[in-house]
Amino acid sequence: MAVAKARKKRVRTREGSSPTVVCRCEEVTEEEIRQVIREGHDTLEAVKRVLRTGMGHCQGRGCLRTIARMIEQETGRPVAEQRWPRSRPPLKPLPLGMLGETARRVKGER
Ligand code: FES
Repeated sequence: MAVAKARKKRVRTREGSSPTVVCRCEEVTEEEIRQVIREGHDTLEAVKRVLRTGMGHCQGRGCLRTIARMIEQETGRPVAEQRWPRSRPPLKPLPLGMLGETARRVKGER
């Protein structure tokens, strides 16, 4: 499947240049994102499904706006007209200990 190959195959950068990392959590570069958009995955959700952008520790707070601007540049579709990917709770990472504490409180344990 072309989608899976796109993720596995790292885009080679021009010799001597360092890649610009757009999604720091998933270590996805600008070139990878532009390539995937040009292959037809031209929505935030599609880019997310191929490259896992927005699925990292920050849940996309560090990269989705930039990727939306890149989609705008590549397709001409304004950022305001793009659909944002569904976010799935928890929106912020929680320490497991906090979840355990909540479970104990619900049970009435101390
Ligand atoms: S920077 Fe992309 S998910 Fe965090």
